[in-house]
Amino acid sequence: LRSIGSVVSVPNPMDSNKQAWMITDMDEAMNVLKDNKRFTVDPKGLEDNNLREDLANNLDSSTPDTFFTGNSMLFVDGVDHKRLRKLVSRAFTPKYMEELRPRVQQIADELLDQVIEEGAMDIVKDYAYPLPINVISEMLGVPTSDRKDLQTWSSAIAKGLGWGRQDPSIAYSLNSFGNYTKQLVEEKRKNPGNDLISQLIIIEEEGDRLSESELISMITLLIFAGHETTSNLIATGTMMLLDHPKQLEHLKSDLGLVPTAVEELLRFNGPSTSVGPRFAKEDIIINNQKINKGDMLLVLVKSANRDEQKFYQPDELNVMREIDRHLAFGQGIHMCLGAPLARIEGDIAFTTMLRRIPNIELNVKRDELDWDIALSSQSLNSLPVTF
Ligand code: HEM
Repeated sequence: LRSIGSVVSVPNPMDSNKQAWMITDMDEAMNVLKDNKRFTVDPKGLEDNNLREDLANNLDSSTPDTFFTGNSMLFVDGVDHKRLRKLVSRAFTPKYMEELRPRVQQIADELLDQVIEEGAMDIVKDYAYPLPINVISEMLGVPTSDRKDLQTWSSAIAKGLGWGRQDPSIAYSLNSFGNYTKQLVEEKRKNPGNDLISQLIIIEEEGDRLSESELISMITLLIFAGHETTSNLIATGTMMLLDHPKQLEHLKSDLGLVPTAVEELLRFNGPSTSVGPRFAKEDIIINNQKINKGDMLLVLVKSANRDEQKFYQPDELNVMREIDRHLAFGQGIHMCLGAPLARIEGDIAFTTMLRRIPNIELNVKRDELDWDIALSSQSLNSLPVTF
């Protein structure tokens, strides 16, 4: 795509009278994501069509709040965003995340204990999914018995979210997710615990509190974002290493390289393939291209992360590559809140797997792998291996 240009015109999926654009190189991607004066995540007031209202047309009037249908930080900018993010960000500081390391390690070890005697497992089902969902659920105080449902709904939503008109099939999962979370909050109100949901219910910053809608939207966002992408990093990351045996050998011979390798796996083929949409708040020229007020833009993370102006041999996976930036966690005010947690989970997941089952091999033909490629994410439905 970059050979066509750094700003590529595409049909607008929401409104045929308006233009849409894909941003393909690193500098322009950074500029768009960092510039929240000229670009916004919230198209209200900029154009007739509204991405989220459009989705709501597929849902019935009793649809509950979720991160997508309610009031979440993902879809607001400015002071509203700052306020929502501030209320939860204290729980996600790198220092606090480091304290979770021993528990994440224990979960990783317990998952491998369950399969190690068998000499075979499905990386997705047995390791990549249960690890992050258990970590975020423990942080939030979600009962063990409910985690499978949350995972199923989140996965359906991730696969259905697109750029423009939404797939009505995600309505069922959004409904179930929102209703479940409402109920969970009610239970926590009656029986508060030592968990993040109980804290979010009472948290106050300078007299400010989350409204009911914001609370449910926040919790569904943390559950959804807190496991879906990290699972994909672990599963697709394992696949990429199996696809690059020399790189896998490097890593096995020096497990201290794993944090560097995690950044490279995120750059090379991370779970977020694009970030957006953003909407132009005014007429703008990007790279000689006129972008009109209200036009949609999608940042192609996967393309920007392979920008040959920024990375030497970008299409090569190199677990020793020292990277000073990539776009896998986005950029600007919406940059991933959970990046410190995702990095720790990735580090522990790969280190533990390569230490305990170093002779791992793919147990399916490469071209029989079951991929789900959506506009903004990619995932494997299963990854059978032997060891
Ligand atoms: C935002 C990627 C893990 C919570 C984002 C964004 C990206 C991203 C690209 C920006 C979206 C945008 O600008 O529109 C990833 C990847 C992960 C990961 C690749 C794993 C490898 C996590 C985890 C959490 C989390 C573990 C924990 C709760 C969030 C939240 C936001 C976000 C709350 C919204 C931030 C805001 O709007 O200010 N993530 N994420 N993510 N992520 Fe993550």
